[in-house]
Amino acid sequence: MRRLALLLVLLTATLPALAQDRRADEHSYAQPDKVRITDLGLDLQVDFAKRQLAGTATLTLAWADEDQRDLVLDTRDLSIASVEARNGSRKWRAVDFELAPRDERFGSKLTITLPRQYEQVRIAYATSPQASGLQWLAPTMTAGGKTPFMFSQSQAIHARSWVPLQDTPSVRYTYTARVRTPADVMALMSADNDPAAARDGDYTFRMPQPISSYLMAIAAGDLVFKPISARAGVWAEPATVDKAVKEFEDTEKMIEVTESLYGPYRWERYDLLILPPSFPFGGMENPRLSFITPTVIAGDKSLVSLIAHELAHSWSGNLVTNASWKDMWLNEGFTSYVENRIVEALYGKERADMEFVNSRNGLKADLADIPAEQQVLMLPPRTGSDPEDALGSIAYDKGAWFLQFLEQRFGREAFDPFLRSWFDTHAFQSVSTEQFVAFLRSELIAKNPSAITEAELTEWLSSPGIPAFAPQTVSPRFAAVDAVREAWVKRRTAARELKTAEWTTQEWVYFLEGLPASLDPERLVELDQVFRFTGTANGEIAQRWYPLTVRSEYFEARPAMSLFLRKIGRRKLIMPTYEALVQTADGLAFASQIYLMAKPGYHPITSASVEALLAKAKAASAQ
Ligand code: BES
Ligand code: ZN
Repeated sequence: MRRLALLLVLLTATLPALAQDRRADEHSYAQPDKVRITDLGLDLQVDFAKRQLAGTATLTLAWADEDQRDLVLDTRDLSIASVEARNGSRKWRAVDFELAPRDERFGSKLTITLPRQYEQVRIAYATSPQASGLQWLAPTMTAGGKTPFMFSQSQAIHARSWVPLQDTPSVRYTYTARVRTPADVMALMSADNDPAAARDGDYTFRMPQPISSYLMAIAAGDLVFKPISARAGVWAEPATVDKAVKEFEDTEKMIEVTESLYGPYRWERYDLLILPPSFPFGGMENPRLSFITPTVIAGDKSLVSLIAHELAHSWSGNLVTNASWKDMWLNEGFTSYVENRIVEALYGKERADMEFVNSRNGLKADLADIPAEQQVLMLPPRTGSDPEDALGSIAYDKGAWFLQFLEQRFGREAFDPFLRSWFDTHAFQSVSTEQFVAFLRSELIAKNPSAITEAELTEWLSSPGIPAFAPQTVSPRFAAVDAVREAWVKRRTAARELKTAEWTTQEWVYFLEGLPASLDPERLVELDQVFRFTGTANGEIAQRWYPLTVRSEYFEARPAMSLFLRKIGRRKLIMPTYEALVQTADGLAFASQIYLMAKPGYHPITSASVEALLAKAKAASAQ
């Protein structure tokens, strides 16, 4: 025993990198081991003219360390008017606070000095018009054109830009809110939205299940509701709601399939909020109300796996939550796996396989640019880094691939109940990769120890790249696409003769990704004449087509491409085109021009990404 202890001491002393504590959240100033928020009460006024939320946040506290007096919170660009504290329902009394200078990545640490361990603290504050977690849209940027719109995007660390709180997924709390808006504006939150609420500018919300701060969400605008089923429906602008209900009519079936695999849906209602096209992501799993980009309303349900994904987070993520962002694969890898199971159950194995192959091709392409030490699931603390810089495909696609590997080795009859019990036994908890691995060992491996080896497990968790023994998904429908593409590339068959009538978005994506990096512009003209890619309303196709037109110097596509880049704010869809443009001096000038026009309509998250890319390209070309 003593020798072991000595060995451990030596190891810690000589190899600090290996002994780093993985439990802490390096992206938050909060000290949840000393004191935790258990409930949040918001009272906010939505002011479109000032682009500001203003009001109070009342935090109820649970103290864990009897010597602790300070309450340290995360904020970013908030102006704090006052801080008060009280016990029970006694009188509020003013207390001291100090707002630290702003850190570019993490914002300003707010230290509240309390004379004793008060039960509640109330902060009066206002947000900045530049709040990183909010977007304010002028009426012209909405479908209806008459009412302004605003929405939040809190993941990963933007909740602190609109609420002073412990902005770490390791802390969970319940919340209530009163939100006031102009009378003709509807407000919604990640809470108990009432489909029949009277639109009067004064709304109250309750979220009785404990959630993490990145799941705080608010939106306000000309929003109406239409049901899909008794517990599911769509909130959207009047011009969009019917199209969305039709596109997403399978949502109730998705909930039922997921319940049959992983246990009851625990959040009562599941609604979708369709945002304007500037929404920077595809979807965001805000509890009870997923936020969804309108770019997945393709007209043929071909992109509804996004709904399956956000819904799946109701189990993997919202119910069982990564305790810090380095363990994001526990949210996103699990969710990508569950998403694929939902797609398989509803739309069949062919479609599920095509989707797996397309995302894995994306992962394989990304691997070249991801440093080896970041290609692991068991990541070391990423001190000082912005959690948004983490390259997604490891957490999403390698994570899902690992679960598919376990599923195939242990069999669905063992793996499905295992995953269900992971969700059941860790419901409403924040968890780490270590906890998952311990659970995997005791609940799955111990019962069938020969199904995988220790070396295989370690390779999945701690080695870069994808193990050679990973299961390979092959898609016969993609084999057919390969044949069609080759016939056209080798000029054996003209575009108009190609057999593509039955193709879905997945096949088109695969077709485009397999084309040579650039082609003669006349060849793109030929494709365009038959398939009309330029100007397509399908964002997944546009995302692949426009970069190809740039690399091929097919300039006729520019006007439509420019419209696409100005209208859509979803980062994943537009960044590849910007990236292709900045490769040449002429393209960089064109991209800079488009960005100047697009910027007023972009979300701060999207602006930040495009600006960083342009700055890097300009610096490189100046050398
Ligand atoms: N939770 C994510 C979005 C996110 C991740 C926001 C990290 C901020 C930081 C959401 O569930 C998601 O994964 N969205 C994807 C959709 C998807 C089908 C992979 C997206 O937005 O593209
Ligand atoms: Zn996700």
